[in-house]
Amino acid sequence: MAIEIRYFTKSKKGNTKKLADCVSKALEKEALTVDNDLTEKVDTLFLINAMYAYNVDKRIKKFLERNKDKIGTVYNINSSASGASTYKAVKKACDKYNINISDKEFHCRASWININKNRPNEEDFKNLEEFVLNIVNNN
Ligand SMILES: Cc1cc2nc3c(=O)[nH]c(=O)nc-3n(C[C@H](O)[C@H](O)[C@H](O)COP(=O)(O)O)c2cc1C
Repeated sequence: MAIEIRYFTKSKKGNTKKLADCVSKALEKEALTVDNDLTEKVDTLFLINAMYAYNVDKRIKKFLERNKDKIGTVYNINSSASGASTYKAVKKACDKYNINISDKEFHCRASWININKNRPNEEDFKNLEEFVLNIVNNN
């Protein structure tokens, strides 16, 4: 099964990069930013992102648009300060480009300004590792 990991991180805290590094370690596969297009078709794309102003960054949407013909299924992995997921926004983009998105997703709260200090934490990383291994081992 061909798997790729892509992420976009914006804030200085690099929370999404931390989640991407966790996925990378669990799957023993490099996590690249969304500046790196897919070079061949993949069955599973772990797309790691965060909520900014109730939405996902346009670089996530542009990546989906550019790579729509190479993506089997997107798995959304994301964080936000409020606990709200980016799933709806990512699904909307996937629907627009006719990309399949799994209804299984991973979300955790993460730090922003003074909220959720030290998140993602060890428990978040453990849960995320379980999430990705479960998908990879059951596909
Ligand atoms: C510019 C900006 C806007 C944000 N807007 C929201 C928001 O609307 N809702 C929310 O729950 N969290 C919001 N957050 C919190 C981020 O979703 C959270 O800190 C995330 O982990 C940031 O990931 P990053 O460090 O990879 O950029 C915002 C953060 C930033 C930097």
